[in-house]
This record gives sequence, structure tokens and C-alpha cells, in this order.
Amino acid sequence: MSDLEIRNRLWIHNEWRDAHSGRRFPTVNPATEEVITTVSEAGEADIGDAVASASEAFRSKAWRRMSAHRRSQLLWRLADLIEANADELGRLETMDNGKPYFESRKVDLTSVIETFRYFAGLADKIQGETIPVSGPFLNYTLREPVGVVGCIVPWNFPLNLASWKVAPALACGNTVVLKPAEQTPLTAIRLGELAAEAGFPPGVLNVVPGFGETAGAALVRHPDVDAISFTGSVEVGRTVMREAAGTLKKVSLELGGKSPNVIFADADVPAAIRGAAMGIYYGKGEVCAAGSRILVERSVYDEVVEGLVGRAGKMTIGDPMTDGTRLGAVVSEQQLDRVMNYIRLGVEEGATLAAGGERRTVDGKGYFVEATVFSDVDSQMTIAQEEIFGPVAAVIPFDDADHAIEIANDTIFGLAAGVWTRDIGKAHRVAGEIKAGTVWINTYNQYDAAAPFGGYKSSGFGRDLGLQSALDKYTQTKCVWVPLDG
Ligand code: NAI
Ligand code: MG
Repeated sequence: MSDLEIRNRLWIHNEWRDAHSGRRFPTVNPATEEVITTVSEAGEADIGDAVASASEAFRSKAWRRMSAHRRSQLLWRLADLIEANADELGRLETMDNGKPYFESRKVDLTSVIETFRYFAGLADKIQGETIPVSGPFLNYTLREPVGVVGCIVPWNFPLNLASWKVAPALACGNTVVLKPAEQTPLTAIRLGELAAEAGFPPGVLNVVPGFGETAGAALVRHPDVDAISFTGSVEVGRTVMREAAGTLKKVSLELGGKSPNVIFADADVPAAIRGAAMGIYYGKGEVCAAGSRILVERSVYDEVVEGLVGRAGKMTIGDPMTDGTRLGAVVSEQQLDRVMNYIRLGVEEGATLAAGGERRTVDGKGYFVEATVFSDVDSQMTIAQEEIFGPVAAVIPFDDADHAIEIANDTIFGLAAGVWTRDIGKAHRVAGEIKAGTVWINTYNQYDAAAPFGGYKSSGFGRDLGLQSALDKYTQTKCVWVPLDG
């Protein structure tokens, strides 16, 4: 990897800067436990600089008067630059996060590029309405940008989730301060530099690596930040909402999940098993929409458990850069401990450990966890209620559709769900009854820049991706009245 030039400073006003405090923090490759580099650590003063730069850029003629066509062109150019540098970005992502390179390069980067192109297409199609009010008035609306948007993203899809926020925010004419997760700052920092290369003026996109409780909190509290777009844990989501109240920011939260994957006996069962395994093991299970609860109709329960155990055994652990590795390292030692604690708890609670359950290493190093299956899980067990965020499936039996719906909704979360059946009426009825922001029927983990994604209940509010959700989050409506009876 020595040929990779790794950027590791703050990106503010289209320049590299060190933190005022001079502090740096290490970012670790979880597959090797090695420090990749140390990164400048943004503190309150640096957040202040980044926000000042973004505010100045928001008011500047260079950005405010830039035509929407030109903004669109810059976003498209940024997508081209990301594409041209996709191998490098994919490697950085894999080093920082531990996910297999094919996931970083083929899946994440493809989505990042598509997201920038999709929102490049939106930039010059944002328009208001004329409204037929009573009286001799012309009444029309304008869709205006919100201002400075603070984007706070987690470590599971570092560049991808950043693109889901940065692309629509810029398309709508806002300026952005992006705070990547402390575990995985490297691709976001590079994104800032590429945006400058694409032609975005100074201050339009600033990237401030740092910790949540310092840098993240300072961004949320800053009076000149107009909106916060957050993805992360429920606990921090609550804090963000509370802290944002002080300055009445617009907030959107995409939080965790405990998503049910419901398999009926009349499904294509082998396809359902494949889909359910992918639903929980893809991305090491560090996926907000992970299908971590697999609900199975009793008559096919044993067959599905057996199939999942077989699939778990094929999730080859290895060097994430090597072809054939299916399961990378979980993101950090802390996350490893969390996942291993939940596995111990599952056993203590009386669930059957049907596959996996062990920590693994590669050449004696790395935070790897085996693909794990718990069967005989009761919906009230902790492993069926709390987000584990690791490759751990809880398989729960059910009797009929109503019972399945009851279990599916027996959670504080509501991010996503899967339904597997050949009965189309039942498929749509169950999809309608499950309280979740996304339902996949006879498939799982499908995403598209055009398809809105986000949660019900404690999984948050506001949607990433999609046309309408971008306008809702990243624009505000101005209503203009003009008398016509002069
Ligand atoms: P986290 O919620 O602490 O981190 C997400 C982002 O929020 C990071 O950029 C972090 O620096 C920032 N942050 C943390 N505290 C903040 C604060 N007070 N103010 C502003 N920003 C703050 O998630 P963490 O601790 O890394 O992971 C813990 C658990 O959260 C995971 O095991 C998983 O269950 C869940 N999680 C869910 C994610 C999702 O995609 N829905 C993503 C990451 C974690
Ligand atoms: Mg790292």
C-alpha cells in the first residue's frame, strides 16, 4: 500500500490545515491492527473555521449566483473524478473500515458515483409553484437552499453515506461541513480535495475529521449551521436532536435498525435463505438495514436454519484485499467487543448457537468475527431487540402472517424489512403492515439514488436519496405575494 498517498489533515476553504490544538488521532486498519496514519483532530475552533468558511461561501456571489446548470456540471465533474480515482478510494475504504475490497470498489464506489450523478441531474430542476389564491394576487413559491448543512456520518459506509448527504445538499445550493466518523476519516478527506479539483469554490465543501463528542457536538451546536443531516446510533441521534433544539436547526436522523426478514413456507426457500444470509452477513452485518432478525414460518424453520448454517460456513474470512474474502474485519476493537458481548449474551439467554460465534484473526491479527447463527430465539431476548451491528443472525419462528407481523413490529426500530413469499396478495399485505421505511419483497439490500431510504419509529426521520426527500431536507420554501390590482 506504500504507493498510496494518504491525506490526513483538515480540509477547510479548499486548503489543508492542521488543528488549532495541533492534535492528531490514529486511524487503524482493523484487519491488521496497524495504524494507517494519524489524522488532524478538529476541535471547536476548527469547526468554527469550517463553519465560517461555509457561511462565507454560502453568501458569496461565486456560489449564490452560480447558475444551476453550472452547479450540475460541477457535481457531474466530481462524479467523474471519483470514478477516475475509484481504485484508490476503494483501497482507502477497505484499509480504514475492514470491508472486502470488492464491496468498497464495486458496491460502495458505484453507489457514490451514481449518487453524485443523480443529484447533478436534480440541481437544475428545482422549481417552485404558482398558487391560485383568493383575491387579485400573484402567489408563487421559491425553493431556496437552507444554508450551511452539517453532515455527520458513521463508519460503516464512510464515503457512500457521505455522498448520500453531500450530493443532494450541494445540488440544492447549500454549503457543507462534513464530519466523518473517527474510525474511518480517510475517504471523506479525499472527497474534499476532489471537490476542489472539480471546481467547487472554497468553503462549499469542508471536511473536518474528529470525534463525535467534540467536533460533532460543536457542529450541532454552532449557531451558523442551519441544518444537521445525521446517520449513526439511536443514542447519539437523541443527543443531536436535543442539542440542535438550542438553535432550532432543521434535523434529519437516519439511525439504526433491527430489521426483520420474514420467510413464509410458500417462498422460494433456497432463494430466501440466500437473501437472508446476504441480508445479515453483507458488510459484516455493520449495515443499518441489516436483516438481523430472520422470522421463519414453523413448517420450514429447520430447513431455513440448516441453510443459513451452510451459508454462514461459506462466509470466508480473510485479508479484505484478497479476492475470495467474503467477510472482512469488524471496524474496531470496540465494535469487536460489542459483538462478542452480544454473542455471549445470546448463549446466556438460552438461544441455540447454531453456527459461528468465535472471534478470528488472519495471520494472528485483526478483529474478525465468524458468521454467526442463533436459532430458537425469542423476540424478547436482547439479541432480538438490540442492534448488534455485526454478522449475527437471530432466527425466530412464527405461526402465520399475523404472528409474523406482530413479531416484525415488536421493536423500537423501523428501518427496513424483507418479505419472502410467492403469494403476491400476502406479500403486499405484509409489506403494508410492517412499520418500516423500506420493504423488500423477495429480495434484500437493494438501494438506488432515486429510491428514498430512512426510518420509521426510533430509526429516525427524514429520508436520504430520492428526489422529494432531497428537496424536503435541503431546501426551504419561500412564498411570495404580489397584488395585481395596482
Ligand atoms: P455513533 O452514533 O457514535 O457515530 C456516528 C457518528 O456520530 C460519528 O461520526 C460520530 O463521531 C458522531 N457522533 C458521536 N457522538 C456525537 C455527538 N455527541 N454529537 C455529534 N456527533 C456525534 O456510533 P458508534 O458509537 O460509532 O457505534 C455504536 C453503535 O451505533 C453501533 O454498534 C451500531 O449499533 C450503531 N450505529 C448505527 C449506524 C447506522 O448506520 N444506523 C452507524 C454507526 C453506528
Ligand atoms: Mg480505521
